[in-house]
Amino acid sequence: MAALKKAALLAVFLVVAVVVPPATAELPRLEHPPTKADGSVTVLAVGDWGRRGQFNQSLVAKQMGIIGEKMDIDFVVNVGDNFYKNGLTGVDDKAFEESFTNIYTAKSLQKPWYTILGNHDYRGDALAQLSPVLRNLDSRWICMKSFVVNAEVAEFFFVDTTPFVLKYWNEPKNDTYDWRGVAPRETYIANVLKDLNAALKQSKATWKIVVGHHAIRSVSEHGDTQELVRQLLPILKANEVDLYINGHDHCLEHISSRDSPLQYLTSGGGSKAWRGILTPNTDKLEFFYDGQGFMSLRLTNTEAHLAFYDVDGNVLHSWGLSKGAYY
Ligand SMILES: *[C@@H]1O[C@H](CO)[C@@H](O)[C@H](O)[C@H]1NC(C)=O
Ligand SMILES: *[C@@H]1O[C@H](CO)[C@@H](O)[C@H](O)[C@H]1NC(C)=O
Repeated sequence: MAALKKAALLAVFLVVAVVVPPATAELPRLEHPPTKADGSVTVLAVGDWGRRGQFNQSLVAKQMGIIGEKMDIDFVVNVGDNFYKNGLTGVDDKAFEESFTNIYTAKSLQKPWYTILGNHDYRGDALAQLSPVLRNLDSRWICMKSFVVNAEVAEFFFVDTTPFVLKYWNEPKNDTYDWRGVAPRETYIANVLKDLNAALKQSKATWKIVVGHHAIRSVSEHGDTQELVRQLLPILKANEVDLYINGHDHCLEHISSRDSPLQYLTSGGGSKAWRGILTPNTDKLEFFYDGQGFMSLRLTNTEAHLAFYDVDGNVLHSWGLSKGAYY
């Protein structure tokens, strides 16, 4: 009798545990300590690429390999829209090898690729990209929804921005989005913002870098993402985030905030580009390139240095900041 009661109670507890999600959960954290003797961390950032090498994807990949070698990069920051046009059909979709493994073949790129999903990834089997099956196929692939990479001098806070964008829910047109594990939207977004805010508050890193697929500020085709301006940007400013890195617009951009230290960086030039649109906004446009390319970052305890490259590996724009200058 007692055992039966206990079993019944346990059953009730299990049901409760399943249906009530925890009020808060920490973002998953990955440790990536520096390996260079001077403690510096070097990375490349790229986005919007998976087209089986076409639209200059292979040229960008080749130059990433060369710059990656020169800089001895620690990892790649992959800002989403990994597989066009509709993500992966499942874990056995050959696009994974054809657009990723067989394209980014340089030795210097055999490092972790910390990856988030873009809106096109959500149009396929979004869970497939998060699956350990892909990690077994190519150990570089580290794809999660929202998470933190701690590289000591810098912490990278990856944010899943696609669910923020209302039109994907309200006017999906002919596209379907894989909202498994996301819906309902409001709860999901509230939790992401709460967890991000908590992680930023705890961070003791010199450089706080937030990474999302969608731009907060962009002068190209898609422009600003209003949901992120309203909901994400205040958290970045309140926590003195240094850099926000995104893709989504197929170009390279650097925009400086006029009322905070925040720098907005778009590195969405991984393949198809040349949209031919430039609509200025009220923040300061430091650099804009409508073609393909990628970005590098070098971070030390006192300095951050970034550069943008084209398909020939030419440096198109570079920029640096010393933390000591603030104090
Ligand atoms: C590839 O890059 C070159 C150099 O920027 C450019 O002229 C060409 O149009 C690009 N090709 C495509 C398909 O975008
Ligand atoms: C949606 O699909 C229909 C039927 O295939 C097509 O006629 C229409 O142009 C599509 N709409 C958009 C926005 O792509």
